[in-house]
Amino acid sequence: MKSRLVLALGLSLAALVPQIVSAETVWLDDLNLSAATQGWGEPHKNQSVDGKPLTIAGQSFARGFGTHAESKLHVNLNGGAQSFSASVGVDDDVNGSAASSVEFIVLGDGKELWKSGVLRAGNAAKACEVNLAGVKSLVLEVTAAGDGIDSDHADWANAKFETAAGKPEAVAGETPLAAVTPYILTPAAPATPRINGANVFGVRPGSPFLFTIPATGNRPMEFSAQDLPHGLKLDAATGRITGKLKKQGEFIVILGAKNALGTAEKKFRIVVGDQIALTPPMGWNSWNCFAGAVSAEHVKSAADAMVQSGLINHGWTYINVDDYWQNHRNSKDPTLHGEFRDAKGFIVPNARFPDMKGMADYIHNLGLKAGLYSSPGPWTCGGCAASWLHEEQDAQTYAKWGFDYLKYDWCSYGSIASGKITNAMNIPLYGKSATNDAGAIYPYAVMGKFLRDQKRDIVFSLCQYGMADVWNWGGSVYGNCWRTTGDITDTWRSMSGIGFKQDKCAPHAQPGNWNDPDMLVVGQVGWGHLHPSRLTVDEQYTHISLWCLLSAPLLIGCDMTKLDDFTLNLLENDEVIAIDQDELGKEATCVETNGDVRVYEKELADGGRALGFFNLGPASVDLQFNDLAKLGFTGSLNVRDLWRQKDVADVNAASGTLPLTIPAHGVVLYKLTAAK
Ligand code: GAL
Repeated sequence: MKSRLVLALGLSLAALVPQIVSAETVWLDDLNLSAATQGWGEPHKNQSVDGKPLTIAGQSFARGFGTHAESKLHVNLNGGAQSFSASVGVDDDVNGSAASSVEFIVLGDGKELWKSGVLRAGNAAKACEVNLAGVKSLVLEVTAAGDGIDSDHADWANAKFETAAGKPEAVAGETPLAAVTPYILTPAAPATPRINGANVFGVRPGSPFLFTIPATGNRPMEFSAQDLPHGLKLDAATGRITGKLKKQGEFIVILGAKNALGTAEKKFRIVVGDQIALTPPMGWNSWNCFAGAVSAEHVKSAADAMVQSGLINHGWTYINVDDYWQNHRNSKDPTLHGEFRDAKGFIVPNARFPDMKGMADYIHNLGLKAGLYSSPGPWTCGGCAASWLHEEQDAQTYAKWGFDYLKYDWCSYGSIASGKITNAMNIPLYGKSATNDAGAIYPYAVMGKFLRDQKRDIVFSLCQYGMADVWNWGGSVYGNCWRTTGDITDTWRSMSGIGFKQDKCAPHAQPGNWNDPDMLVVGQVGWGHLHPSRLTVDEQYTHISLWCLLSAPLLIGCDMTKLDDFTLNLLENDEVIAIDQDELGKEATCVETNGDVRVYEKELADGGRALGFFNLGPASVDLQFNDLAKLGFTGSLNVRDLWRQKDVADVNAASGTLPLTIPAHGVVLYKLTAAK
């Protein structure tokens, strides 16, 4: 239904005015809403995403667009649009869910015109009024406001355009880019020895020490470690350093590797103190490939492949089983049936994992480390037995089995935090909901303490999607890394949507504490139904470059037994990995936006800086980049292309120009250091 407002002008007046000014109201719900993309359900006209009447904090609306975060509707304004208005908010059909929080954003020709701020269930509808003079295209976006899309039912109520000419039209958003033939940039590692990986390693006094010197080059290789502190020993044939260090302190060790063609040395710092994970953890996790179908055989094969592929020689270390090693509350799969806990309350793994300690030993015997997963509620996200009221026993069990890494989710704890499950053992709950910071922190403080009590270093990875701004407090509950977003999937929209929105948490990254934008989606992924990553080749270069700049934990999410050459090369570029593993522990932020190009900068321990030039647009970009002085660079600089491992130029910061060709959705990743 349109309504037409015509300024009726008398004939005499019309003679003085050259044109008749008219405005037409076009309702958003009259557009083709099926062009919208959204994180769950179908776009609804005049109804919430659940098909109920549109209602925000008790206020009903006859018209509007009911959607679900993350949602985008692209609209061509076709000239003459004057304004857009709406009342926006979370629909009451979420029944006050604490998980529900969204942000409405209006973008005009790529620029942000308006945003609502975070709106939650029960918040009154917020008025959106946007002037569209001169704007050609609009995007109506609803984000998950950084905490995952759970219960994010979002209404653009009463939404309408006023237009003087041309009728707005909903159009399909950005279409996926055409496939790019895989091209490999990483040069082959030399046959002579080269020691790769982090320059620093943290361990707590008294914890078992395991570090495998990551080195490329022909085998056999003989390893050495000069000035190794008392308590540690090196196996010269495997490069594994084991033992225990009793006291706090710092040791500089010279690692060596020798083969028939030559020798290599590297200075390595061992820090015995409170903090572990001094560089972001690197490894593999079962979720993005096997999800609920995982078995101990999958995990052991991944460990074998980590060694056979040579990835272990580039610093990849952890082999982590995600959800589904425990028994399930109601699955039809008989391998998941069985008691959840024994008579004393200790967790019992399911039939696919008959020997958790044996599996961890198997992984350790390859020089790798082992990880597992649980949740603070009664059930994991997949519905398996989780740690509620058994946190201490679980931490003890993980240590007894020999695990080195715990990913700890949030699932089903929400009902406890909101008081829906009674707390039989009267554990104090400091808050009522996840929106209350104390309530969100509490379960992690509990598990963090029990992990700390173990005589073993267990990396503590919080997986609560960034709720309650976890980056502000994750370190205080002994968290080593924390997810900052909902789950990633192998699309450009998901990966770029997560990766390019991390600036807010960046200041909180430091050795021992890392922001986690979720696992890698390269190679064969598919959550139980394997397929090659849907990211284009250039998008995958972007993914790895960006995650390294962000100092993100690097957890490969693909089937390790099906690594193709392209994926392998993507994961074994030591100069790119070195950006992630840099011991200064800074996280890159966006320092410049130039059209579709975003420039990310990361400060490095050696005084150099890594610069990532990312092209978010659908076409290749040629750029003469001459903003080095603006970014604070001075003097003469050596510019190294990290993917190609090649110096490309010496440039003067004040007058020099970097010629860049950046593929669509691709990246150029450079390191700049003072020229010698
Ligand atoms: C999700 C988590 C995933 C995976 C899954 C297991 O909440 O974000 O990475 O662990 O649970 O059910």
